[in-house]
Amino acid sequence: MTHIRKAVFPVAGLGTRFLPATKSVPKEMLPLVDRPLIQYAIDEARAAGIEEFIFVSAAGKSALEDYFCTARALEAQLREAGKTKALEALEATRMPEGAMTILRQDQPRGLGHAVLLARRLVGDEPFAVLLPDDVIRGATPALSQMVDAHARTGGHMVAAMDVPRAEVGAYGVLDCGESRGRVTRARSLVEKPDPALAPSTRAVIGRYILEPSIFDELARLGPGSGGEIQLTDAINRDLPRAGVSGYRFEGERFDCGSVRGFVEATLAFALDRSDLGEGLESRLAAQLGLRPAA
Ligand code: UTP
Repeated sequence: MTHIRKAVFPVAGLGTRFLPATKSVPKEMLPLVDRPLIQYAIDEARAAGIEEFIFVSAAGKSALEDYFCTARALEAQLREAGKTKALEALEATRMPEGAMTILRQDQPRGLGHAVLLARRLVGDEPFAVLLPDDVIRGATPALSQMVDAHARTGGHMVAAMDVPRAEVGAYGVLDCGESRGRVTRARSLVEKPDPALAPSTRAVIGRYILEPSIFDELARLGPGSGGEIQLTDAINRDLPRAGVSGYRFEGERFDCGSVRGFVEATLAFALDRSDLGEGLESRLAAQLGLRPAA
């Protein structure tokens, strides 16, 4: 059984769906309630045993890079002012020295290209990829579920969920072979298929465990859908060698790369919070005309 120690976080995208906010704030720094999207992905990776964090970033995203640096002056001020709770809130942003590396993707040439840039740092071992846009809420973090399943299956593993057929054109989609529990063997994968021709409605979501053989395929691959180097295409081409399975994770996934998904996630996470939930419920009920505001 191989311990998955390293994770790649591709965060070099332009985030155009969140303009104008993303003109100066990286998408991954937009807060769901009071924690930025990237924090949810890092917490999930840590829970799954990840020790090395590789960011593929881009120019103009220094706020994202600074977020995991120790803020000595701020900490000193908070300590002096006795603001223990605020100090504790910073705890999750601590990264052990040397655990995080930041690479630069000069141009947004696609998710596959971003992953390829991590080749030298990943080396010759299976590794995880997490897209912070996809936030998954559930009792057991999705990547932990996948790491457990991958210990039995090996090969490439992608997080998968069923989506309405009309929406498959926005995803990589699995041609499903045999299933065992939550694991389905893939016969092939296709990026952004025409909904009428898609082999299934089982879509790939932003969590992957990949074998290092993916890098040879990514290096050989030219631009695919949208003129970008597509990770799905590389996984599909490596399927005969490594095998690919889709893991139907337990939990609710929010597409925080879209404004609607982001707002839905904000509501769901806020309603979960003991300090916010009740007040928010009555505000919502009033807004929906269900009862007068408290
Ligand atoms: P998206 O397809 O959501 O693109 O990328 P985007 O640029 O972030 O956002 P929009 O569509 O313009 O609003 C999916 C993931 O792949 C990363 C993104 O940062 C995001 O985590 N990505 C995408 C890269 O790192 N590099 C790329 O060239 C493309």
